[in-house]
Amino acid sequence: MKEINIGLAGFGTVGQALYKVIEQARNVHARIAKICVRSLTKPREIRVPESLLTISFTEITRNPDIDLVVEVIDDPETSFRLVSDALRNGKDVVSGNKAMLARHLPELMELQRQTGKALLYDASSCGSIPVIRNLEEYYDNDLLLEVKGILNGSSNYILSRVFDHNEDYADALERAQKLGFAESDPSHDISGNDSLNKLVIITLHAIGVYVAPADVFVYGIPTLGQEDILYAREKGMKIKLVAQVVKLSDDLFTMFVMPEFVAPNRYIYAVDDEYNGVVIRGECYDRQFMFGKGAGGLPTASSLLSDITALRHDYRYEYKKTAFAPRPEYTTDIPLKIYARFSQTNLLDGLPWLAVSEEYRSESFRYVVGEILLADLIKSRKLLEAEDVFLCNFPRFFTERDD
Ligand code: HSE
Repeated sequence: MKEINIGLAGFGTVGQALYKVIEQARNVHARIAKICVRSLTKPREIRVPESLLTISFTEITRNPDIDLVVEVIDDPETSFRLVSDALRNGKDVVSGNKAMLARHLPELMELQRQTGKALLYDASSCGSIPVIRNLEEYYDNDLLLEVKGILNGSSNYILSRVFDHNEDYADALERAQKLGFAESDPSHDISGNDSLNKLVIITLHAIGVYVAPADVFVYGIPTLGQEDILYAREKGMKIKLVAQVVKLSDDLFTMFVMPEFVAPNRYIYAVDDEYNGVVIRGECYDRQFMFGKGAGGLPTASSLLSDITALRHDYRYEYKKTAFAPRPEYTTDIPLKIYARFSQTNLLDGLPWLAVSEEYRSESFRYVVGEILLADLIKSRKLLEAEDVFLCNFPRFFTERDD
């Protein structure tokens, strides 16, 4: 088998892990021929010959000796320019850049069509779990009802440590960074935006519809407090940061990212630390569950390697579901049941509740449990960003089907 030359862009946690994995793998028949980095002098765990490094991405994307580009850099806009340039210059590409993909998938689909080159990105969503390729190839559009789960390892690591081990939030976040799970700016992990980017990618492959991240409600865990943990514990539940895309009917679907109360009989209740877990629900098979390491250098590198191998076999995403007609439409006109905790910001009067079922007031904080439209949560984004506010969703889709 001919050895392929890989041009690697990005040599951080994931890039270095891929380098190690390729050096050790016996049957990959691939080598890293050039590495594009931001700094030539930055100290790195893995030392490579200086001649391998470059700071100019065109030395990879336009290099006739490079067969395939693997892109794991940080900055979404540089990543988009690099990936586009590689495709235009006749290279297949493997990317792990979820923020870039979530923003630019429509253009990248078109570019693949125009150039005939392939872009694979299973590593972008849920690390080592092969969720994209399975949604693309196996799960038929008609039968698929819901894809829901924990898509971010760092925030799940923090929640596990705080919730199950009573550890301090800031310490847990620092460890998630040290262990190489977190983004270089970890606010993307805890704000839910990293989960959202993955949800956008998953939705395209699950039901064939692209929804821009800016149009989706996302709420994270930066303001989680002891009051919220106690509320969940009293009810025998955990709080997890959950992303979900749900078909409401043949014509409509919704999607959002929010902390959610999770009962012990749910699959994701037992998904702890940096693990991810994805529940795929369908008409005929009820629920299926995919579980695995969602963050960290080696798990992500394993997924990149799988995409590299898939390209050797001429695999490409065909985006078959985007051609289905009719496809369901995205709606936010759907009531959710949420817990809203606050102190100075008056969420009882400040939000257009459809109904309130529980209210609590103490000297230091208040909470409300009630129904509210997802569209109204989107409209109230500014108010909900206040530091004294925390929201948590009660699951409501398909709960009657589960015991
Ligand atoms: N920061 C991400 C996470 C890395 O914690 O899940 C994997 O995408």
